[in-house]
Amino acid sequence: MSVSICVASGKGGVGKSTVTAGLGACLARLGHSVVIIDTDIGLRSQDALLSLENQVVYDLVDVASKDCRLDQALLSHPSIPGLSLLPASQFARVRSLEPDRLRKILKELLRTSDFVLVDCPAGVERGFRNVLNAGVDQAILVTTPDDISIRDAERAAQIMEAKHSARPRLIVNRLDNDLIRKGEMYSARTVADTLDLELLGEIPDDPAVYRAMLRHALFCDFDCEARRAVMRISARLCGEETPFPAYGSKKLPLFRRLFSSDLKEVLPLGSH
Ligand SMILES: Nc1ncnc2c1ncn2[C@@H]1O[C@H](COP(=O)(O)OP(=O)(O)OP(=O)(O)O)[C@@H](O)[C@H]1O
Ligand SMILES: [Mg+2]
Repeated sequence: MSVSICVASGKGGVGKSTVTAGLGACLARLGHSVVIIDTDIGLRSQDALLSLENQVVYDLVDVASKDCRLDQALLSHPSIPGLSLLPASQFARVRSLEPDRLRKILKELLRTSDFVLVDCPAGVERGFRNVLNAGVDQAILVTTPDDISIRDAERAAQIMEAKHSARPRLIVNRLDNDLIRKGEMYSARTVADTLDLELLGEIPDDPAVYRAMLRHALFCDFDCEARRAVMRISARLCGEETPFPAYGSKKLPLFRRLFSSDLKEVLPLGSH
């Protein structure tokens, strides 16, 4: 079965593109054929995340405007068989992409791929609505565990509902075990309950994501907690039941409780 999934957030910078690239890599490594469409016109990032930036010749808007064929714009990943990218244009305007054209592109890609992952632009404006109007089968909302991202995710979910799109499932990104354990950060479960959305996955804040970028690589190329988290989400997308780590819910063993240094408290200016 082929499925198209959009990855949106409301608030920008919460990790949509990182998560989409990770899911694409993990799903391909599980043996599926995957195409990522970068719809962040003007601010593309998937080409860099997947280390394909030097190979972009044509892009999504070129295909939509019929300046090239779809196969001419698709970039196959050199070291992850089964993963391809349809890059966004860096210079075109969002209005150059008609939802009808995007719908046709999605349909064509679904003929030959198991998963088409659509990386949405930030916000709830035209770029995001274009993707919804093109008609995706499933939706994922990514949020970080803070009030602003959660509020923006709620707004995005409301728009999806108003457009009768698929009810989104939630990924909570950049979780910190210690902060949750100390009651200083919402757990993924709390965020999902607040938004009343099905929890699809929880991803820790992992320095390996940044370290991988410094090496012009994707975090999924390294053995790290974020990769394991995205692997679990990929398995769930394939219909497997995978246990949630429920970050922050497990008590530390006694010796770690005694000897682990406390996280620095944030003090208001002038309070010391
Ligand atoms: N789990 C994580 N751990 C550590 N860093 C992360 C994690 N997820 C994302 N980041 C970092 O957060 C930043 C924003 O990520 P990303 O560009 O994927 O967000 P985005 O939602 O696609 O942004 P935009 O809305 O601008 O498209 C990047 O520097 C990325 O490396
Ligand atoms: Mg992005």
